Amino acid sequence: MGNILKKLFGQAFPAEGMAAPGEVVPASGSPEAVLQGIKGMLLPVTTAYRIQYSKNGATPKGVFWSNADNVRKRFEILCRVFDPEDIARGEASIIDLGCGYGALYDYLKAHPVMHGGEYRGYDICESLLDACKTRIKDPRASFYLNMHATRPADYSIVSGTFNLKMDANEADWLTYTQISLKALWAQTDKAMAFNMLDIADAAPMDGLYYADPQVFEAFCRGNLSDNVTLVSGYELPDFTIYVRR
Ligand SMILES: C[S@@+](CC[C@H](N)C(=O)[O-])C[C@H]1O[C@@H](n2cnc3c(N)ncnc32)[C@H](O)[C@@H]1O
Repeated sequence: MGNILKKLFGQAFPAEGMAAPGEVVPASGSPEAVLQGIKGMLLPVTTAYRIQYSKNGATPKGVFWSNADNVRKRFEILCRVFDPEDIARGEASIIDLGCGYGALYDYLKAHPVMHGGEYRGYDICESLLDACKTRIKDPRASFYLNMHATRPADYSIVSGTFNLKMDANEADWLTYTQISLKALWAQTDKAMAFNMLDIADAAPMDGLYYADPQVFEAFCRGNLSDNVTLVSGYELPDFTIYVRR
């Protein structure tokens, strides 16, 4: 782990400092503040998304996804996190961390959970956020240039946000993703769902981050909640984790 990340990790998880991935860490520290210190590591990622979007526009390819069917499948799986009671009431607030051009909003806009609900998209790439703001004129939706959610919501969803790491070191990326998840959990009142590329993928590509599902399951169980469900083997190269309060 790089020295700066080591220091930041110690700040985010003060009692453990250099805790191993998946190790139990008390919920203390200020991950939001720590994330500000990691901004520099994300600059090449932001640039890559800006260029990809400028070439491909508000399409799955514009955020490095291969096709719309798979994006939809991911959303279907992630959105199983909603509590049936909230679907019946239709009043949930939802954070989308790494909203891209707003594809999850497109999926959710007619979903019963959103009838009287609220959707908040966060992203680090300004041109993608501009695309959201230009395309989406719905008083239930709002968009923010930020790498962490700034207000609490009932649910948080993360799709593909941690996939592109560019040249970042593996250990640093692992640390960053865990700090980010911890910060997001602190803003999540009911449940969170996130996906990551699975380390079991037979055809890994340079610049992408492949995570070990067991490590992340243990991390969530040890640091966020006892109520954790891992879903994998659904014919996409990733896995999904639900964390509920
Ligand atoms: C693979 S794209 C997926 C976009 C969207 N979730 C979807 O499924 O269509 C990942 C997005 O996450 C954004 N992103 C990456 N790291 C982020 C972070 N730490 N905070 C907020 N957004 C981030 C990128 O700019 C990009 O728009």
